[in-house]
Amino acid sequence: MNERLAARMGDIEPFHVMDILARARALEVRGRDIIHLEIGEPDFPTPVPIIEAGVAALRAGHTHYTGALGLPDLRSAIAGFYDQRWNATVDPARIIVTTGASGALLLTLGLLCGPGDEVLMADPGYPCNRHFTRFCEARATAVSVGADTAYQLNLELIERHASPATRAVLIASPSNPTGTLIEHAELARIHQWCQANGVALIVDEIYLGLTYESDEQSAAGWGDVFVVNSFSKYFLMTGWRLGWLVAPGWAIDGLERLAQNLFLAAPTPAQHAALAAFSAETLAILESRKAELKSRRDFMLPALRDLGFELPITPQGAFYLYADCRRHTGDSFQLARDLLEQAGVAITPGVDFGYHQPERFVRFAYTRPLPRLAEAIDRIKLFLRT
Ligand SMILES: Cc1ncc(COP(=O)(O)O)c(C=O)c1O
Repeated sequence: MNERLAARMGDIEPFHVMDILARARALEVRGRDIIHLEIGEPDFPTPVPIIEAGVAALRAGHTHYTGALGLPDLRSAIAGFYDQRWNATVDPARIIVTTGASGALLLTLGLLCGPGDEVLMADPGYPCNRHFTRFCEARATAVSVGADTAYQLNLELIERHASPATRAVLIASPSNPTGTLIEHAELARIHQWCQANGVALIVDEIYLGLTYESDEQSAAGWGDVFVVNSFSKYFLMTGWRLGWLVAPGWAIDGLERLAQNLFLAAPTPAQHAALAAFSAETLAILESRKAELKSRRDFMLPALRDLGFELPITPQGAFYLYADCRRHTGDSFQLARDLLEQAGVAITPGVDFGYHQPERFVRFAYTRPLPRLAEAIDRIKLFLRT
């Protein structure tokens, strides 16, 4: 390691999928047709009403800082959406607008943990969480989860892995990379346990809105909980860098101070654009996109199973399929490389999501139109046959 770097840099790993992406781009430059199923963002553009609101904001000169907590109108609009869509009562004063869910996660972990503290999270899981935790000089306790718990933590696992150093439990539902949900009743039990034990509960609901058959419920109405969300996924605004955090009342002052120092504020034009995210016109567009994602999942899931990939439970949300590929290989990273080189299909190897048997898994992101997914399946079939 470069001695000029801080010690923590030794633990901050790159996304391995970036190697796949770089290789995919190099192949494309040489004229190869690559089907990208590795990228964790929808292929759809931001809905036009949001873009128009953003452009109008720029023309109107909304190019200065907002307050660190975000535009009051946007905080109220988010609270209104909780009320209408998820039947959850959230005081706008508890909502902080952030630079994506990433900003919300960093603020939350920065507020809660420091040296010697531990944060419990599922493995496989979103890799940045363990790096955010490390950045705060705390330790991520990655708990191995499997299909038996829908790749989610449950109370039993938490009780088994918690220690006096545990400061927070982090749950993501629907999960990245598995697309699976935690049952709301189980989350409520975990919430109770956290309250009883003085542990903070952080719920990453970034894929809320993208659940295909179950009744969606948010934890934001519970009060003493940190709920992370974003305009990136359901609202199709990844590049605008906008998200939010619903925090307990006691945490707002500290979070505001942290936000002032770390980011000053979330991007102002993006905040104005997001005011159009909850209009009936935008929501109609978003719901049709969601229906498209569901039909992609309904195509990909049986197709991958037919090809021998194991997906024992049906992922109900997000746009990911986390497939066990042990029938084909003991080295999922090599499989991802070979699929790219030989079949022109880019996927993410399990190694990006943790340490729990990553060599057995790959993630398919169904973020391409159906005909391209069908083409990908044909190519994979041919690759596996030869
Ligand atoms: C589970 C999860 N949380 C947080 C993020 C961060 O998203 P953003 O910062 O774009 O809102 C992602 C992005 O893929 C994610 O999958």
